[in-house]
Amino acid sequence: MKISSLLHFSFFGLSTILFKRKKPILGTIILTDKCNLTCKHCAVNNITSVIHSYKQIKTEMITLYQQGIRILFFSGGETFLWNDSNRGLRDLVIEAKSMGFLIVNVVTNGTYEINLPEADLILLSLDGGKVSHNDIRGDTFDLIIRNVREASSSNICLYVAINKINKDDIPAVCEIARREANIRAVSFNFHTPYPNTEYLSLTKDEKAQCLATIANLICKSYPIFNLKTAFPYILDDSFKTPCYQCVVMENGKQSICGRCVNIEGLCDKCGYFFAAEYALIFSGNIKVGFDMLSTYLKYI
Ligand SMILES: C[S@@+](CC[C@H](N)C(=O)[O-])C[C@H]1O[C@@H](n2cnc3c(N)ncnc32)[C@H](O)[C@@H]1O
Ligand code: SF4
Ligand code: SF4
Repeated sequence: MKISSLLHFSFFGLSTILFKRKKPILGTIILTDKCNLTCKHCAVNNITSVIHSYKQIKTEMITLYQQGIRILFFSGGETFLWNDSNRGLRDLVIEAKSMGFLIVNVVTNGTYEINLPEADLILLSLDGGKVSHNDIRGDTFDLIIRNVREASSSNICLYVAINKINKDDIPAVCEIARREANIRAVSFNFHTPYPNTEYLSLTKDEKAQCLATIANLICKSYPIFNLKTAFPYILDDSFKTPCYQCVVMENGKQSICGRCVNIEGLCDKCGYFFAAEYALIFSGNIKVGFDMLSTYLKYI
């Protein structure tokens, strides 16, 4: 990360805490909900299957930028399915960077050729070792690993949603992250129980075990892009939700924190680590703040 970006984020953080501001810094644009997969844990794929136009996405990028957002995520559906005329996902990343977004990340299922060298991070969903991953995501593990090896850049961060099926696969995914040259790190979330996916949720004891495993692997220097200092709050669901510093934009509609914000009772069972981490930092948790600083400097 550039020093100028670091200064920008530090100033934003300090002024948010001091003046108890609710201004956002992180925005996600949903390019489409169309997807080539139907993962067991996912409730957001192929609801409309509309691929939003370039004009729409550009307008959303401008709106978010004007609000002061400087960390931009493109997500979906499957982001690599996005195209409009001759433009593809990579063009959006390049454009976002040239507009002045300081960090531009893409979330993908990794089943398409990966050619996004301009992205700061490619969050590539891998939900365990081969057996668990294929159980959740269909027979895609080998294809994804091949795409990772053939990727044009080494800015990939594995993205794992831990649930009942893959809860014992944490060390296996960390080994993959350490072994593969194009993978920079791995980032974990817990399953968030959207309607009809509740059966995949972990019990509190299971979550405690997973967090202890991740903490242990962080101590052993595995490349893990999560903040250990936030784990106690994640376990107790004791962070403030929703997080006002994050927004999501889908088809012109802006929501605070996530698309999930309007699902009754879901925020109390939120599994997204970023929501906990950002909520804690901007409510003035110094330990989590320093943890974020050192972790982001390591991986972005
Ligand atoms: C909705 S997908 C969109 C991007 C892309 N299709 C993918 O799979 O990475 C974004 C991320 O949300 C995660 N996700 C989906 N449903 C979830 C749930 N119920 N709880 C936690 N994470 C979930 C996915 O595993 C994926 O890492
Ligand atoms: S690939 Fe992503 S969007 Fe598609 S079903 Fe799986 S989690 Fe959902
Ligand atoms: S806290 Fe944010 S990410 Fe978590 S469930 Fe609520 S809206 Fe979604």
